[in-house]
Order: sequence, then C-alpha cells, then structure tokens
Amino acid sequence: MKYEPHDSYFHRAKAEGYLARSVYKLEAIDAKYHLVAPGMHVVDLGAAPGSWSQYLLAKVGPQGRVLAVDIQEVRLRADNLEFQQMDVLAAEIENFLAGKIWHGLVSDMAPATTGNRCTDQARSAALVERSLYLAQRFLQRGGFWVAKLLEGPERAPLTRAAQQIFERVHIFRPPATRKGSTECFLIGLRKRL
Ligand SMILES: C[S@@+](CC[C@H](N)C(=O)[O-])C[C@H]1O[C@@H](n2cnc3c(N)ncnc32)[C@H](O)[C@@H]1O
Repeated sequence: MKYEPHDSYFHRAKAEGYLARSVYKLEAIDAKYHLVAPGMHVVDLGAAPGSWSQYLLAKVGPQGRVLAVDIQEVRLRADNLEFQQMDVLAAEIENFLAGKIWHGLVSDMAPATTGNRCTDQARSAALVERSLYLAQRFLQRGGFWVAKLLEGPERAPLTRAAQQIFERVHIFRPPATRKGSTECFLIGLRKRL
C-alpha cells in the first residue's frame, strides 16, 4: 500500500490551522458518540503536536479545561490548557490527575514503531492498558474514554477490561485512519461508579 504523507486530510488540517491530520479522527469519534461538551475537563494523553488538544479546547470552551501530556513538547498555548511533558507510564502523572474532576480521558498515544508487528502491538496495548487504568482511577462517574490501539491479540482482553469499567464499549475506525493501518479506537461510554 502506497503511503501518502500529504493526503487530503493533511491538506485540510493545514488549511484549517490544525497541528496534525489526526484531529479528524477525534472529530469523527466525537460526531458519532457525542463525547465532548462545553465546560468539561478532559485529559489528552500523547498530545503532541497538539491537534486533539486544539479540538478539545474549542469544544470545552472557556469554562472547560484540558490537560495535555506527552514525552514530546506541545507548543500550543491557551489559558485553560495545562501541558505536562512526561511519560504516561511513569507514576508521576497520577499527581496531576489526583484530586481533580475529569469528565473525559483520550489517548492517541502510539509507541515508536520497531517494524516488528508483535512488539508494536504489545507496546500499543500497554499504552491502552495504562490509559484505562488512569481512566478507572481518576474519571468521574459517567465519564468517557477513548484510546488508540494497534489491533492484535490484546484487543479482546482490553475490550473486556473496559466493559468492567464503562457501561458501553465500542470499537471504531475513523475515516481519517490511513488505508493499510491496523489502528482502531476503543471507546468507553458512561463510566460506572
Ligand atoms: C500520533 S501522536 C499524537 C498526535 C496528537 N493526538 C495530535 O493530534 O496532535 C502519538 C504521540 O504519543 C506520544 N507517546 C507515546 N508514548 C508515550 C508515553 N509513554 N507517554 C507520553 N506520550 C507518549 C508520542 O510522543 C506522540 O507524540
């Protein structure tokens, strides 16, 4: 499959002022599941360069708040955006989540790919598992969770684990996902108590 770095989503993102074409994946997920609303407080894991945070900031509005986390720098600035440069797998992130209200947690985290499919799938699954743990510990009742996964044998156990935590769990492949990519998004709706 020919990889086209500058496809129509790339050009659209550039024209609309978004930092990455990935924004259209979150937009499609939100259009289908109606997740983000004004005033919400949302955590964005794997936020760099920042297009999901741009989308979230526009949707939550001035009364809302976004916490963006990534190993790499996010250069985006806004009054209601907090950026923490750190590894989500490290315990430190819990200090920034604890004691606050979070209505949603999204993760577009992707491991640095090795080219070995099993290794890449296992690393992607570990990031999804971590985001699910953080969602379970820190999301409000009724909150939502979105996490990108490279499809592999961990999809079924991760879906089952998410079903313990959320009333509804869906798997979605947005149109902006590149042809030939094995990524999908796990979506948890209405966190149980
Ligand atoms: C596909 S990019 C995210 C794009 C972003 N959603 C946007 O719209 O601009 C994946 C990101 O995951 C981050 N990442 C991967 N592993 C991570 C980890 N353990 N902790 C924090 N960030 C991580 C990478 O640094 C990378 O910036």
